[in-house]
Amino acid sequence: MAQDTLTIIDNRTQQTYTLPIENGAIRAMDLRQIKTGPDDFGLMTYDPAFMNTASCRSSITFIDGERGILRYRGYPIEALAAQCTFLEVAYLLLFGELPTEAELTRWASEIAHHTVLHTAIEKFMEGFRYNAHPMGMLVSTVAALSSVYPEANDIHDPENRLHQIVRLIAKAPSIAAIAYRHSKGFPCVHPDSELGYTENFMSMLWKMAEPKYVANPVLARALDTLFILHADHEQNCSANAMRSVGSAHTDPYLTTAAAAAALAGPLHGGANEAVLQMLDEIGAKQNVPAYVKKVKAGHGKLMGFGHRVYKNYDPRAKIIKQTAEQVFEVTGRNAKLDIALELERIALEDDYFIKRKLYPNVDFYSGIIYQAMGFTPKMFTVLFAIPRVAGWLAQWQEMLNDPEQKIARPRQIWTGPEVREFAPLNKRASAASSRET
Ligand code: CMC
Repeated sequence: MAQDTLTIIDNRTQQTYTLPIENGAIRAMDLRQIKTGPDDFGLMTYDPAFMNTASCRSSITFIDGERGILRYRGYPIEALAAQCTFLEVAYLLLFGELPTEAELTRWASEIAHHTVLHTAIEKFMEGFRYNAHPMGMLVSTVAALSSVYPEANDIHDPENRLHQIVRLIAKAPSIAAIAYRHSKGFPCVHPDSELGYTENFMSMLWKMAEPKYVANPVLARALDTLFILHADHEQNCSANAMRSVGSAHTDPYLTTAAAAAALAGPLHGGANEAVLQMLDEIGAKQNVPAYVKKVKAGHGKLMGFGHRVYKNYDPRAKIIKQTAEQVFEVTGRNAKLDIALELERIALEDDYFIKRKLYPNVDFYSGIIYQAMGFTPKMFTVLFAIPRVAGWLAQWQEMLNDPEQKIARPRQIWTGPEVREFAPLNKRASAASSRET
């Protein structure tokens, strides 16, 4: 018998089955042959929240959660964060290799060329209420791009796909900047194609009456580094949404909007905003022990702590902590940092957090940096979304090019009633509890 196999005895039937093991996994479909009789559907796996299910093969992002390793296309995140620009990393994620100088120049120029938003989109954004959440604006506006570029529907043409990918990466900062200025009541600033990707974003955010916006190089580099750290993260909730919605062959604008909607949740990308709310609630360093006690008693979570995959430390959080120091040299220290450091210190010494392997994640310190740079907490998740667009699109392309992928469609375990006799309206008994869900 081949060694890379799994032998299963079904104790219901005493039948033995041998299944191949490939890449440390068995195929769930191989279990379907395990039946108690001809009418049996066959064995399924039950895995709510995909705790132990690989949904795809991927060569984009590698994570070893036990050892705190993150690599894009094989390159350690530490090397990329120290030596690349975000656009180089976006190229790497999408095309599999770092660009040469000539490739990067062309790529950057293509992106710069597509940063302008159609007037219909600018008008669309004007319609948002003055206090609209920027993530709601981003999700809806990315979806609205689908109405401006209907040709994006042709997802089977690689050249057409690449065109939409360039548009999405180019327009994400333009949409984000309008979302920001809308909340301030400022008119939108059009892109400046002489500036790099991140500097241009900063110009669209903060340019006022000056003829040319000049970004502080330390802050621009810090923001670019944060973009690199957030560019992709394997099969997380939003990447899974991207692949799942994209598997229906929905166009890339609507699909990216769906992924961004997943990111908006406080358990995912929305955590960076929630961290700031938590630090505000704690208020002062001396209140940290009481707050930790409350969390341990089951009242809320320590936002910015814990991760489904990282069970040692989040390598992105380490780099962000270093970046924070550089930013604070320019902006002055954010007072929230002391509360955050105390929270980290106490939590890392506490049995509750040690036992559950809960460490600060990428969102724990990023918000403190963003706030020091002048962003309001409502913008934090949008800042996460801008670079993640590149990762989502890389995941989307990989899914479309994978001959094993089909429309995503999980199974369920039925827990409802067997067939029931229909009762007409005037014969129904009131069941008050039926509204409780
Ligand atoms: N504070 C307190 N307890 C926690 C926390 C936390 N932040 N995270 C997990 N736990 C506890 C949880 O209650 C559970 O305890 P018990 O075993 O007693 O029931 C145990 O740790 C295991 O947690 P889990 O909920 O089963 O873990 P998960 O893998 O399903 O969830 C997570 C991962 C990131 C959703 C979760 O850790 C969390 O909600 N963290 C706070 C939100 C956050 O910071 N999210 C950002 C994640 S990183 C960036 C991103 O994905 O966008």
